[in-house]
Amino acid sequence: MSNNSAALSFDLNVSQAFNTVVELEQTNRLKSLHAKMRDKTATKSQFIFHADQVFRLLIEKSFELLPFDDLSVTTPVGAIYRGKQLANPLCAVSVVRAGESMENELRHIDLKIPIGKILIQRNPLTKQPKLYYSKLPDDIADCHVLVFEPMLATGGSAACAIQVLLDAGVLEERIILVNLLCSPPGIEYLCTRFPRLQIVTSSIEQRLNEHAFMLPGIGDFGDRYFGTT
Ligand code: PRP
Ligand code: MG
Repeated sequence: MSNNSAALSFDLNVSQAFNTVVELEQTNRLKSLHAKMRDKTATKSQFIFHADQVFRLLIEKSFELLPFDDLSVTTPVGAIYRGKQLANPLCAVSVVRAGESMENELRHIDLKIPIGKILIQRNPLTKQPKLYYSKLPDDIADCHVLVFEPMLATGGSAACAIQVLLDAGVLEERIILVNLLCSPPGIEYLCTRFPRLQIVTSSIEQRLNEHAFMLPGIGDFGDRYFGTT
């Protein structure tokens, strides 16, 4: 068995082992967006353009995991339409900096959803996350929460953010991590530590390299999205 196929079989085991993980269907359309984004020659505007489209798919998929109540409305022709509305308050929390990239697509869906911030930075040498700051909605303990963190490598940054939310009184089963790329060890770490956390991702990657970068990966997401390289 080649290294590549060994990595792939580990990947499949991880995605099957945790039923709280939803990986987007790997359609040709999704793979085409990933190809545009992951290409090292993509310009900043090309990168943002395609990443935003994947974010929209991830946020829409996350909404499918939320509870809805019935809502009937009267249409302009006097008929009743039996629709739905969110059952509970919803907020988002971005893990600064990379997570802020997902906020635009949420605003396109609903401008009224509050967005909290948690500033976490990895030490570039040790890869250990450090929490610097958080500002959360006052009623967050009553909310379902979408956590915006596009990159899950070791899982340390995401775990730190989830712990901040739990300490603020959010129920673990009401947290959905919205994620672009995750590594098998990262997802295993998070799911083991937070078994009721739900994760929506667009790709479970093959593995982490010795520098804690995912493979095939995308490079440093924050640098590419915000143009700091
Ligand atoms: C990057 C990335 C994730 C984190 C993932 O953040 O944005 O937040 O690393 O790695 P982990 O799962 O091993 O913790 P970083 O602090 O490097 O930079 P950023 O400011 O660009 O988000
Ligand atoms: Mg980050």
